[in-house]
Amino acid sequence: MSAAPLRVALLGAGTVGRAVARALLERPAELAPTDGSSLELAGIAVRDVERARAAGLPAGLVTDAPAHLVAAADTDIVVELIGGDEPARTLIAAALQAGKPVVTANKHVLAHHGAELEAIARRTATPLRFEASVGGGIPVLGPLATELAGNRISAVRGIVNGTTNYILSAMTDDGSDYGTVVTAAQAAGYAEADPAGDVEGQDAVNKLVVLARLAFGCWLAPGAVATIAADGPGAGRPGITGVTSADIDAARSAGGVVKLIARARRAGDAGSGPIVADVLPTVVPASSELGRTGGVLNRIEVEAVPVGTVAFSGPGAGGDATSSAVLGDLIAIARGLGSTWAGLPPATAAR
Ligand code: HSE
Repeated sequence: MSAAPLRVALLGAGTVGRAVARALLERPAELAPTDGSSLELAGIAVRDVERARAAGLPAGLVTDAPAHLVAAADTDIVVELIGGDEPARTLIAAALQAGKPVVTANKHVLAHHGAELEAIARRTATPLRFEASVGGGIPVLGPLATELAGNRISAVRGIVNGTTNYILSAMTDDGSDYGTVVTAAQAAGYAEADPAGDVEGQDAVNKLVVLARLAFGCWLAPGAVATIAADGPGAGRPGITGVTSADIDAARSAGGVVKLIARARRAGDAGSGPIVADVLPTVVPASSELGRTGGVLNRIEVEAVPVGTVAFSGPGAGGDATSSAVLGDLIAIARGLGSTWAGLPPATAAR
């Protein structure tokens, strides 16, 4: 291990940020790779300093000036867990421009600005890692870029949003209608106060765009991913917002369950056409692995040659689970590894 620890700037102290901070503060020796540098928490940028201190974050590390923390001479790595568009995009770009590796869980910023951020990371030869942006704690992006790199991938599909899976599972199990379940899910803390990004499918679209970057080598335009079905369950409304108890019952009569399935595949007979992607309520066999993926779990299936079909499943959200992916990326950087796309070629333009 080299003598000087790498100093980590944490941007955002929500559930994932607090779990990452705890790990860096409480078990640095465990996290230090034997073939790289150790990691040290340099600072935590939050919106409300007093609240963060009251929540137990070390007073001396907390700041409300994320841009200063990114630019600080003794910040070596930036972990962006603010989420959303700005200021996340500018902060990530600034870190990469300065040659500081970035770890992010931000699927929105990747789906909407991934091409730009990848270009900066490649130009400055600075790692950009984002395993936590899809599937929470499930390792799936790394395997797509590394262990599965010898394959030609023909399709990825799966359940990548825990909130909607929880809602559809509850509608199926309890026979409750959509509105009742959403209200109960909000009360239980499973759904956001404003659940639109989840229930209308945009969260899953963002994750599918990131998956497709690793699987197919291009950044899809999020707006090109369909979220409104022409027929079938929930037809005519985005995501799961149109799914009714009647849809659930009809699926059950046919031995199925309704799931919000994100899919991307190569079109054309020889699989050489453009990438077709959608996020739609879909009836799957109740006895299938996707059908049996209940509650807030995620499952992602990859079809590829020569491997066949491989699947990844586990906790797709939550502070502890998602911190696992962030910490794994931090350790990868401490070991001198590069970006999540590893040795894959630069992405082609969104299409
Ligand atoms: N809102 C997301 C979900 C959180 O429900 O899956 C994890 O990305």
